[in-house]
Amino acid sequence: DKAEDLTPRPPVVTIMGHVDHGKTSLLDAIREANVVSGEAGGITQHIGAYQVEKNGQKITFLDTPGHEAFTAMRARGAQATDIAILVVAADDGVMPQTIESIKHAKAAGVPIIVAINKIDKHEADPNRVRTELLQHEVFVESMGGEVLDVEVSAKTHQGLDKLLETVLLQAEVLELKANVDGRAEGLVIEAKLDRGRGAVATVLVQRGSLHVGDIVVAGTEWARVRALINDKGEQVKSALPSTPVEVLGFSGVPNAGDRFSVVETEARAREVTEYRQRA
Ligand code: GTP
Ligand code: NA
Ligand code: MG
Repeated sequence: DKAEDLTPRPPVVTIMGHVDHGKTSLLDAIREANVVSGEAGGITQHIGAYQVEKNGQKITFLDTPGHEAFTAMRARGAQATDIAILVVAADDGVMPQTIESIKHAKAAGVPIIVAINKIDKHEADPNRVRTELLQHEVFVESMGGEVLDVEVSAKTHQGLDKLLETVLLQAEVLELKANVDGRAEGLVIEAKLDRGRGAVATVLVQRGSLHVGDIVVAGTEWARVRALINDKGEQVKSALPSTPVEVLGFSGVPNAGDRFSVVETEARAREVTEYRQRA
C-alpha cells in the first residue's frame, strides 16, 4: 500500500491465558460494560467477535479462545491479532497455559498486555504474578520493563476502563493502519451452517472495504454477499478494516482461519474454488 492511502484502524485484540483464569468472564464483562443502552435492545449478538468504543475509539475483541485463534490461524500464516491480553488470575499466578500463551504471542511478535484478574479475591497477590512473569521474560513496568499491566476483576468490573485505555495506548504505539479503498481481504474467524440462513461466516476485514453484492472467495467456498450483519445484529451495507461482520450468501461453509478476498467476477470465484477443491 502507498502510505498516503492508509487510514488508522482499530486494534484487534485476543484474550489468552490459563484455564479458569477468567478469559470468558473478562470478554463478557467488557462487552456488558460497553453495550450502549438501547442499542439493539442492549443485546449483543454472538458472532465470535465484537467491538467496543472507548473515548471515541473502537477496539475489536476476538471471542475465539486466544490459543485456538493463534494456532489455527497462524498455521495458515494468517495474523489475526494486533495485541494479546494475557489474563493471569491473581490468586493462582503463572501456570502452564500462561507460559504457552506467552510463547505464542512472542512467536507471533504480538505485544502482550497483562490483565491481573480476580483482584477482588482476598487471596489475590498481584506482585507475585509480576515476579513470576519475570522468569518468562515478561517484564512489567513496575519491574523495570515495558509490558503494560492492569489489575482487573471480571466479577466487580474493577479496572476494565483502565484495561481498555491501556489497549488504546498500546495501539497508538503500533500505529495501526490499513487501506480502506481497495477490494476487501481478511480472515474467516468462525463459520457454521445455520438452519434458516444457510452457510454463515464471520469474517474480520483486514484491508479494503467489504460490501453487499461483492463476490468473495474463502478457501474452497465463495459467496455473492447477500447480507452483512454486524456484532449488534444490524444489517450493514459495508465493513471497514478491523471490523468483524457476518457474511451471508456462501455456497458452503468455509473454515475458521481461511483467508478471504473479493474477486471481480463469479466466473473467477468458481474457477478459484473449483481449482482449490481439486487440490
Ligand atoms: P476456560 O475457558 O475454561 O479456560 O476458563 P476461562 O479462562 O474462560 O475462565 P472463566 O471466565 O470461565 O472463569 C473461571 C471461573 O473464575 C468462573 O467461576 C468465574 O466466575 C471466575 N472468575 C472469573 N473472573 C473472576 C474475577 O475477576 N473474580 C472472581 N472472584 N472470580 C472470577
Ligand atoms: Na472455565
Ligand atoms: Mg472460557
